[in-house]
Formats: sequence, C-alpha cells, structure tokens
Amino acid sequence: MSAPAATAAPLLEIEDLRVHFPLRRGLFGRAQGAVRAVDGVSLSMARGETLGLVGESGCGKSTLGNAILRIVEPSGGAIRLGGVDLARLEGEALRAARRKAQMVFQDPFASLDPRMRLGESIGEPLLVHGLARGAALRAKVSDLLARVGLQPEHADRYPPEFSGGQRQRLVIARALALSPDLVICDEPVSALDVSVRGQILNLLLELQRSLGTAFLFISHDLSVVRHVSDRIAVMYLGRIVEIAPRDTLFARPRHPYTQALISAIPLPDPKAQRARRRIILSGEIPSPARPPSGCSFHTRCPLATERCRTEIPVLAPATDGSQVACHLAT
Ligand SMILES: Nc1ncnc2c1ncn2[C@@H]1O[C@H](COP(=O)(O)OP(=O)(O)OP(=O)(O)O)[C@@H](O)[C@H]1O
Ligand code: SF4
Ligand SMILES: [Mg+2]
Repeated sequence: MSAPAATAAPLLEIEDLRVHFPLRRGLFGRAQGAVRAVDGVSLSMARGETLGLVGESGCGKSTLGNAILRIVEPSGGAIRLGGVDLARLEGEALRAARRKAQMVFQDPFASLDPRMRLGESIGEPLLVHGLARGAALRAKVSDLLARVGLQPEHADRYPPEFSGGQRQRLVIARALALSPDLVICDEPVSALDVSVRGQILNLLLELQRSLGTAFLFISHDLSVVRHVSDRIAVMYLGRIVEIAPRDTLFARPRHPYTQALISAIPLPDPKAQRARRRIILSGEIPSPARPPSGCSFHTRCPLATERCRTEIPVLAPATDGSQVACHLAT
C-alpha cells in the first residue's frame, strides 16, 4: 500500500468541482435555490493510490464520486483523469475515457442482472468494447474470477446462487474487466454482513497491491476507510475539510470535525475506552440547501470564534503533508 512518488503526474485532478441540484417548487416550478451537494472540491490522486472519502450521511460523498464519472453532471469545475478533462467530453470520447474509471456500488444484489450467467456479466464490458471474444474472453473471465477469489466454474452460474459477499466479489471482478486506472467504491461493504466485510476489504487491499489500480473508497465509517486507505479526505457539507496521509490523520487530526469523528470510534481496550474523551458535537447537520455562513462547521464546532461565522477557511497545506480548512489549524 505504498503511494507512488509525489513527483509523478497525478492520475486524477479535481479542481473547484461543484454539483448544485436546483430546488423546485412543484414539478415544473422555477428553481428556488439549490442543494449544494458538492461545493468547491479540489483534490488529486496519484496512480495506484487509495484515497478514502469519509463524512456523515448527506455530506456529498456519493455525489462527488458520481460526478467524477459524470453519472451526475457537475455544475462547474474541472475533472482531469490522466490529463483529460472529463467535464468537457461528450459522446464517444466520454465513453472511451470512462473505460479508465469504474464504479462499485453499495448493493451487490442490485448491481448484477439475476438472469445473466456470471461469465456473461463479467465478460460483457470486454465484449461491448470489442476487447475479447470466444476462447480469449473465457480465459479473461476465468482470470478475473480467480483474482477475486472465485472458481472458473462459477462462470456458468447465476447471481441468486451466491451470497452477498460473493456477489460483491463478482461486481469487483466486472469493474476490473477493462483494466481501469481508477475504481470508485461507494460504500462497498455497508450492505454486507459484518463477518464478510473484512474479507472484501482484504480483497481490495490485495488488488491494490497486485494490479496497481487506484481506488477512491467512499464510506461513512472511518474505521472501514482506515483499513484500506493511503490517504483520507474528510468531507462536511459538500467540502473537503481535511486531507492527510492515513496515519497522520489518526495520530494528529487537525480539523475539529475530524477530531470528533475519530473520538467516536470505539477502542478495543475497555480501559483506554473509558479514559478517552469523546467529543460530542452539538446540533444537527445543517441543510446543504442553506449552508451556514463562513466556516460551514461553525454551528457545531466547539472552537468556533466570531471570525468563523464570516470568513470561509480555505483548504491549506500544513507542515506535515496534510491539508486542512480551519482558521485555528497550524
Ligand atoms: N439527484 C439529487 N437531487 C437533489 N438532491 C440530491 C440528489 N442527490 C443527492 N442530493 C442531495 O445532496 C446531498 C448529498 O447527497 P449524497 O448522496 O451525495 O450524500 P452522501 O454523503 O453520499 O450520503 P450517504 O452517506 O447517506 O450515502 C444530500 O442533501 C442529498 O439529499
Ligand atoms: S474555522 Fe472555526 S468553526 Fe471552522 S472548524 Fe475551524 S475553529 Fe471550527
Ligand atoms: Mg452515499
């Protein structure tokens, strides 16, 4: 799980990305404001890196992942994958670029057609893009099944014969069929039994190492993200508030929101758990249709000052390779 040299050109560069969903009264009414699901996100990912994206429900994680693949249309900003600006592509050029980035969704039951044999489901992207057929296609499908820990003979069976964990393996195999540079996993283990979550996370770790694929790993659960990520980005109300190497984030969380999230993770040692100070955030998460002025976290931040109510903190580099958006962070 080592990130490539920082000097290499980034695989993914996102600049000031915004996704605003218009709020309408009635079906054909005029737009009355907007839900700012993603509100000025800039980040980059190196080849082969796993970036964890974490934050509470509704903070915009899925919208950000979907906007990268143009499953939802960005309202503004740039998304460059391998130097190509996806936000400007259309038609065939967009389809070709999309082969380089694939998505794994939360629900493996909804992601696979129950009437298609597994071999067909996994081989379909290769067939559609004219990359393999006949014996070569069967060999590639067998190889993909083996990579995700399944048997070649499973190719002739149907999804309903498999458990949730096995199905998520199949969804991952299909996402890898076109040898993408980037796989976006949106809560890939949230729908699975706790007992199989670890197995799927370990599979993702193995694939990172053996294939060198980059993963954007989305989860509301910081302890899940911790298991697989090289770096972690923390999102709050449509913005990134902190990005840091995984171990730095846990050893020295700088943003008060990150500190609160980490303090909520249960510790395995009961004595340490009792001694630990849990930071309880007051108040509800504000609506992304009416984000607070200044620092959007100020309504819940235990350290908020007058400045926080008026001035938006920018995501700025700190001394140890992390970036943080807080007026008080050093
Ligand atoms: N198509 C849409 N139209 C209008 N609003 C939307 C749409 N999709 C998402 N939203 C809103 O955008 C905000 C961000 O939603 P998003 O699904 O990206 O959050 P999330 O972080 O993935 O949450 P979760 O952890 O629950 O999956 C929410 O307020 C949501 O209601
Ligand atoms: S800028 Fe102010 S309100 Fe925002 S996180 Fe920092 S201290 Fe809290
Ligand atoms: Mg989501």
